[in-house]
Amino acid sequence: MLRYGVIGIKGVGQYHIKWAKNHPDVRLTALVDSDADYVQRAAGEYNVRAYTDYRAMLADDIVDAVSIALPHHLLGTVGLACLQRGLHTLVEKPFALTASLAAAMVKEAQTRNLQIGVMYQYRSYATPQMLKRIIMEGSIGRVRQVLWTWQSFRPEQYYRQSAWRGTWEGAGGGLMMNQISHDIDLLCWLFGKPVAVTAMLGNQLHDTPLEDALGAIIKFENDVLVTLQASINQPHIGDIRQIIGDRGMIILPSAQSLAHNPNDRLKIGLYDRPITESVSAVSDDHHQPHITWRSIQTRPIGQRLAQRAGRFFSSQKPVVPSSGHGAVLYQFVDAVLNGSKPMVSGEDALHALECINALVMAALTGETVRLPLDYHAYDALFSQLIDGKQQIPRWR
Ligand SMILES: NC(=O)c1ccc[n+]([C@@H]2O[C@H](COP(=O)([O-])OP(=O)(O)OC[C@H]3O[C@@H](n4cnc5c(N)ncnc54)[C@H](O)[C@@H]3O)[C@@H](O)[C@H]2O)c1
Repeated sequence: MLRYGVIGIKGVGQYHIKWAKNHPDVRLTALVDSDADYVQRAAGEYNVRAYTDYRAMLADDIVDAVSIALPHHLLGTVGLACLQRGLHTLVEKPFALTASLAAAMVKEAQTRNLQIGVMYQYRSYATPQMLKRIIMEGSIGRVRQVLWTWQSFRPEQYYRQSAWRGTWEGAGGGLMMNQISHDIDLLCWLFGKPVAVTAMLGNQLHDTPLEDALGAIIKFENDVLVTLQASINQPHIGDIRQIIGDRGMIILPSAQSLAHNPNDRLKIGLYDRPITESVSAVSDDHHQPHITWRSIQTRPIGQRLAQRAGRFFSSQKPVVPSSGHGAVLYQFVDAVLNGSKPMVSGEDALHALECINALVMAALTGETVRLPLDYHAYDALFSQLIDGKQQIPRWR
């Protein structure tokens, strides 16, 4: 039995508690939260030990693994302390404020032979899984260009209700750290390591020092060129995602299920011949290569599993979670107990965080930033952002 603790329990930590409780090989033994009344009540309900300070839990030999669902500025510091204490660690996104701290966690885990998992659960949903499969199978050929947008409105109230989210020292950034780190993780998962970035970040509407809008270009290994646009200053109207290869393209007209598991429809267009041939063979300047379209309906992974194997499901809820927080936590537990790989390991998640740090640096220096990131340079810039010596431009 893996003895398990959850640190930070009022928000998304609830999911970690739920799935740790659900896992047959896990025994929830400790809950930690600075809200003393809340953690006492929850610990009473689950019959486990309550702590208001994670260090007190570390001092007791009560857990083998932990989930950390704390505000961003605590993820890395508490995560590193847990690893130093010899605990396998599942940490919420975005992993840490800086890639340098996340890299220190990865090194600590490697040295001690511990597992790190990072909660980038979008990878487990039906549409991202389908995208990955189509790209890996090669039917659209070598991916060349990607257009990826993300918009969803957030009012000032969003920052008022959790003060840490509205500051550099609390959140480590604006919409990239708070909202679209999931999307940046998906891009890294689909297209490989980011190698160079250029960006403009601005604050258009919000009363924080953080970015609330961005336009960026990210070059991934194999020269995949991604154009990314994101904003929290407009209503959500359905994002635009186009993945263009040498042999065809994928268009996601609605893309609901990047973040959830509803039915979704992908359009796949295949060219009559590879564009690499058309470029030299076509003699008419205005000829456009012919595309044959087909449409694919993604279905929630759970539904497919249910059809294949009824035993996965009780009448009320899945016994084995097929996606979301549960799937990531279960895979993390399997990595700890059986030596498999977490769904998103520390090394995997480091790419997204490095990319986010690099986008901030590119925007503020006005230069293309190459990866791997110069941690020393970013950490110096990050200190200046915290001190207000460097600022995201206000586009008013
Ligand atoms: N994976 C996802 O889809 C997803 C969704 C939401 C949030 N998150 C991430 O989860 C983390 C927490 O977000 P949230 O929305 O649950 O935040 P929250 O503010 O609702 O919860 C944070 C919890 O930490 C506790 N806490 C704060 N300081 C503490 C301390 N020093 N010691 C112990 N407990 C402390 C708070 O009392 C609270 O219970 C963030 O990193 C966020 O990005 C991930």
